[in-house]
Amino acid sequence: MILFHFFLGIFPNDCFDWSDTKVHWYGGGQSINLTWPLDTGTIQYTPFITGDIQNSQMGNVLTRYLINSKGAAIIIDEETPLYISVNARNKEICLLAKYDDFAYANRLTEYAEMKYNICISTDMKSLHSSIHSHRSAPLWDGLKPIDMHILESLISEPVWQIAPRFKHELKAETISKYTEDVIYLGFLKQGHVLINEFWQNEIGDLAVDTSRFETLNETVDKLHRRGFKVAFTVQPFISTESANFGECVQKRLLISERNSDRRIPALTRFKSLASAGVLDITNSKTVPWIMNKLQAVIDKYDIDSFYFDLGTAYDMPHYYQCEKKLINPDQYKTAFIKTFEKTLKVIGVSSAVSLPSPPVFVSLPPFESTWEAMRRVIPTMLTYGINGYPFIMPGAVGGDIYWPGSEQFLPSSKGSADINITDSAHNGIDLPEVELYMRWLQMATFLPVMKFTHLPSKYNDERVLEMAKNLTSLRQKVVTPLLLKYKRSALEEGLPLVRPLWLVPGAAGAGGAGGAGADAALLVRDEFCVGDELVVAPILYPNTTTREVYLPAGLWQDGIDGSLRKGNRWMHEYRVPVDRVAYFIRKPDDMRF
Ligand SMILES: *[C@@H]1O[C@H](CO)[C@@H](O)[C@H](O)[C@H]1NC(C)=O
Ligand SMILES: *[C@@H]1O[C@H](CO)[C@@H](O)[C@H](O)[C@H]1NC(C)=O
Ligand SMILES: *[C@@H]1O[C@H](CO)[C@@H](O)[C@H](O)[C@H]1NC(C)=O
Ligand SMILES: *[C@@H]1O[C@H](CO)[C@@H](O)[C@H](O)[C@H]1NC(C)=O
Ligand SMILES: *[C@@H]1O[C@H](CO)[C@@H](O)[C@H](O)[C@H]1NC(C)=O
Repeated sequence: MILFHFFLGIFPNDCFDWSDTKVHWYGGGQSINLTWPLDTGTIQYTPFITGDIQNSQMGNVLTRYLINSKGAAIIIDEETPLYISVNARNKEICLLAKYDDFAYANRLTEYAEMKYNICISTDMKSLHSSIHSHRSAPLWDGLKPIDMHILESLISEPVWQIAPRFKHELKAETISKYTEDVIYLGFLKQGHVLINEFWQNEIGDLAVDTSRFETLNETVDKLHRRGFKVAFTVQPFISTESANFGECVQKRLLISERNSDRRIPALTRFKSLASAGVLDITNSKTVPWIMNKLQAVIDKYDIDSFYFDLGTAYDMPHYYQCEKKLINPDQYKTAFIKTFEKTLKVIGVSSAVSLPSPPVFVSLPPFESTWEAMRRVIPTMLTYGINGYPFIMPGAVGGDIYWPGSEQFLPSSKGSADINITDSAHNGIDLPEVELYMRWLQMATFLPVMKFTHLPSKYNDERVLEMAKNLTSLRQKVVTPLLLKYKRSALEEGLPLVRPLWLVPGAAGAGGAGGAGADAALLVRDEFCVGDELVVAPILYPNTTTREVYLPAGLWQDGIDGSLRKGNRWMHEYRVPVDRVAYFIRKPDDMRF
């Protein structure tokens, strides 16, 4: 018993009872076992650092606050070496402060300290806005016209993700042909072409692979003339095979082994990279080194922007040591983003623990091409919105080609003669099942950014094409204007573009009507609202043409048949044919017929 107290003394520990089933909790992060709302999940004590949910308990985007439906929030200090558990033994969330040898290896004090604040407000919406306004200057502060332009273009034009799994598959012709196919389709806007890390020969070269891309400047020029913008993916990892590796070691630009004299680089693995060093962004010599390399690429190839693929905390070398002490490995990505967000044009980041300046969008984690994965998109997106990230970039329609664990599904690198329907731009990769693709496209039509890898034309199916055409026109006429309208409240108050139903006026927690369905708004995890005005209820199961739909209080116009619907209730067995999507547009309350 004495020993037990001894431990308690060293690891401060606090638990919050949430056995009251009328109160629900949100925020924190995403994990395979944490759902929406948080109190319905389970998670054993884990360090509160980013990871991918295949290999660790927390996801790629986190913030240190939790919010509940009674209008209370727990905000945990950045310096606390925080572990959390959810419903591990009892119905409760527990916070623990503990140093360890990776997540919290850098001790600030002799014993771990835990600091947190509890804030209370009248409802969740005002609480959310006030937490946001205390955390930083308004998002629009310092926004340049060019940033606003990029922000708006990401909302109104698609992102074309060209991401083959093998380096040799990425060629100038592949990129050129892909954009030709987009134009040939005729109804989709040009948008941003996002090219993965294989524009380099070895990752970390930070220079174009001239053996595969002899005339990439001409390709980019052609893309520009066609109306596309071009973004390159940049990672802070330097392959040990890259010519830069030796130079970086010699100049000590890399993160070093802990307790070494800084000359020994600490190595890690990342995606296709079996062995790589990591640029030490806290070293003042590293920043100009990176900047020079990237500026040379911009000057020579006229690239429009970059996407930062920074990995998660667990992609850092285990015994890492930076020039400046990091409180935890996630601070690395915050430092990386802050360093370049003002000097480079950046459209997105793969992982975050603090809000980047617009127009930087924060990505959802990659999702594989399965129904199960598609069902995780909405709760994850809603969680990140509540975490205070209003501008979220979802993955590709139909699922991503790369996701942690996807290596085991790699087709042979030799080509793909024996594979049935594949996508020529993405050699040897099977197209997602057609019904999954259709349902995913229906959902994606309402998300802040539409990202494609596989084009709808790849299916050679009139049904898919006609649906894609109709959804595109719906996106342009109805969804994009709404997203652009709500961009304002995102920049002003940090409110997400796509919201959970409880954040919408008229729902419980928003200070609204309450009523029979009020609790429903707190629990729904398969619907979302664009701003306050458009409820979307996509189908998320195969072979399914009906679903339960909850409508928040108010008057709504049915997007499928145009009829008026009364809110604050469930609609049972609501019919949604395979080429349709259920959505409802808010109408003024006094409008009837
Ligand atoms: C996730 O939940 C399942 C079932 O509740 C449990 O068996 C498993 O241990 C949990 N995983 C983690 C990582 O907590
Ligand atoms: C591409 O680069 C080559 C060689 O540097 C140059 O001759 C050519 O004019 C460039 N093309 C364009 C479109 O900039
Ligand atoms: C291609 O389709 C045939 C028949 O549908 C199937 O038997 C075969 O396994 C498929 N091949 C691959 C590589 O998926
Ligand atoms: C597409 O729109 C046309 C014209 O409004 C309509 O006739 C057709 O049924 C729609 N098709 C689908 C699949 O939504
Ligand atoms: C869908 O239904 C068809 C026929 O009813 C069946 O053959 C198929 O296996 C079902 N697919 C799934 C994914 O359940």
